[in-house]
Amino acid sequence: MNLKEIMNWRYTTKSFDPSKKISEENLIQIKNLLRMSPSSTNLQPWHFVIAGTEEGKARVAKGTQGFFAFNEAKVLKASHVVLFCSRTSADEEYMKHVLATEDQDGRYPNEEVKQMMHGGRNTFADIHKYDLKDLAHWMEKQVYLNIGNFLLGVAALGIDAAPMEGIDMKALDEEFGLREKGFTVVTAVSIGYRAEDDFNTTDKTPKSRLPESEIITMI
Ligand SMILES: Cc1cc2nc3c(=O)[nH]c(=O)nc-3n(C[C@H](O)[C@H](O)[C@H](O)COP(=O)(O)O)c2cc1C
Repeated sequence: MNLKEIMNWRYTTKSFDPSKKISEENLIQIKNLLRMSPSSTNLQPWHFVIAGTEEGKARVAKGTQGFFAFNEAKVLKASHVVLFCSRTSADEEYMKHVLATEDQDGRYPNEEVKQMMHGGRNTFADIHKYDLKDLAHWMEKQVYLNIGNFLLGVAALGIDAAPMEGIDMKALDEEFGLREKGFTVVTAVSIGYRAEDDFNTTDKTPKSRLPESEIITMI
């Protein structure tokens, strides 16, 4: 499939076939997809919880109770569910950890370039922390970028997905002890394979988008 075909093939799967599981080979690709997403200043302010067992998915389903019950079957019937979590702070220790990792990966020809990057990343973070006062929001934006990358990536592998903001974030933070670890859940994405009777497949419920002429200005 070319890119257009992939984008038209993917849709938000409302009903997964519980008998179809994502292969180990594809899971390796999926983990790499999560890891290789770009982020501003390479901050990588994220963590991912991947539930692939029945027990794991039952734990995630604690975030789809009450008002959020409309998403429960998407969690329980999917092959896997990925919780996208955002950092709640970016302290000096974390900044040094990212820098040391980049150094180990061979990003820096010398100490001067390394310190320049460290200073730049800290300046950006400080702008968001102090001037704009949106550090948490800025980090969440990086996580959303990862989600966009992820939705296209899994579709390219022929895997269906359902992104879900309709989840009880507090319940999930508590279930996985995320806040104590410096993270908070942002979105869940169920992945797997569409059920034949899914009402939302594009032949039954065509996709709808605003026209190209309205959303794109060519100059
Ligand atoms: C960040 C995000 C959160 C979403 N949350 C939910 C959700 O909780 N439940 C659901 O059924 N669909 C959810 N959707 C699906 C959107 O409604 C869907 O992407 C949109 O209508 C476009 O349709 P398509 O994905 O089929 O192309 C979400 C989508 C995104 C990108």
